[in-house]
Amino acid sequence: MSNQRRAARLPSTGLSDRRGRALRDLRISVTDRCNFRCVYCMPKEIFGADYRFMERDELLSFDEIVRIAAAAVALGVDKLRLTGGEPLLRRGIEELIGRLAELRTPDGRKPDLALTTNGSALRVKAGALRAAGLDRVTVSVDSLDEGRFQAINDVRFPLHRVFDGIAAAADAGLGPIKINAVVKRGVNDDEIVPLAERFRELGHTLRFIEFMDVGASNGWELGDVVPSAEIVRRIDAVHPLEPVSASREGETAQRWRYRDGTGEIGVISSVTGAFCGTCTRARVSAEGRLFTCLFASSGYDLRELLRGSADAAGATDAELRDALSGVWGRRDDRYSELRSALPPEAARDRERIEMSYIGG
Ligand code: GTP
Ligand code: 5AD
Ligand code: SF4
Ligand code: SF4
Repeated sequence: MSNQRRAARLPSTGLSDRRGRALRDLRISVTDRCNFRCVYCMPKEIFGADYRFMERDELLSFDEIVRIAAAAVALGVDKLRLTGGEPLLRRGIEELIGRLAELRTPDGRKPDLALTTNGSALRVKAGALRAAGLDRVTVSVDSLDEGRFQAINDVRFPLHRVFDGIAAAADAGLGPIKINAVVKRGVNDDEIVPLAERFRELGHTLRFIEFMDVGASNGWELGDVVPSAEIVRRIDAVHPLEPVSASREGETAQRWRYRDGTGEIGVISSVTGAFCGTCTRARVSAEGRLFTCLFASSGYDLRELLRGSADAAGATDAELRDALSGVWGRRDDRYSELRSALPPEAARDRERIEMSYIGG
């Protein structure tokens, strides 16, 4: 069972960081809020009534987001993903999607426009999102058991409503639909095979994500991680699998298909199989900080650049492109690779931003 990755190739117009990686994907967080309190992401003890979320004027406006996305697309980005928190909580998200859907790459293509959601609002919003120009959605589902699902989201959100949302997304044409399941040992690892079977029946691609040490509030321990190799082995024992080559260079997931031709799964091995060597992703937080790694502790303030200050005018589009190029050109991040070489305590002591802030 081997699955190879190729180095990220540079598009002809594109940028290269210090490790020769192109900038291809921009993940844009549109809000730091979420209506769930998943225990591994926004635990209530920390994200409680006193937690200070961003104020409206701190968030990037749609104009600012579109300017940043346009600059990134001009520099070689051909995949835009909206994240949160929960991106469907951002008021007017359809309008933003409509504007992003008008962007074109230098060679005239529409960038892939995707959104990662917890699915809670999809039943209501799927049709409007599609009509606005969204191409596809990825929905998080960590358990098929109603009680366990509600214990994980910790706000008693019913699982069947997420399934209704997934069905609405499929009906609206927001496919191929991907489902993300974070696997934590002793919490939901007994559901690996049932989850695979359920989403195979529905015809959606399920991706298992190794529980990561992102953020500082999820109490991560190495023992919680179920290695992707084990996940693949467990499914393969019941439903034989074979590897599929990456559909895109720099893809997060390693793909496997059922030998009987009934679909495929993916595994995202952020812990046991770091994929920094081909990482082409940049992230913009909801308040406009540009991060070149999911595990970075600081980001470049694009909002200040755009809005200007008492002694500096707001940046022009050309200056914005220069800033993005400069940050990417200096990029040397490869946190997951380095962390694999460190003892777990050393990694834990490092200052990190939360997943709900940077958008996963
Ligand atoms: P596709 O385009 O559909 O393949 O989506 P994607 O895998 O790029 O995006 P998605 O939001 O579905 O990402 C899945 C999960 O993979 C994220 O929620 C993170 O947990 C993890 N992930 C994504 N990008 C990175 C990354 O650059 N580094 C690490 N370590 N994990 C990542
Ligand atoms: N490790 C792995 N994945 C995580 N997610 C949130 N926190 C973690 C973590 N610590 C996932 C969510 C969602 C995506 C945005 O990130 O379940 O699928
Ligand atoms: Fe919200 Fe997603 Fe975090 Fe759960 S994992 S709290 S749904 S942002
Ligand atoms: Fe990219 Fe950082 Fe993730 Fe490595 S750890 S794959 S550099 S985001």
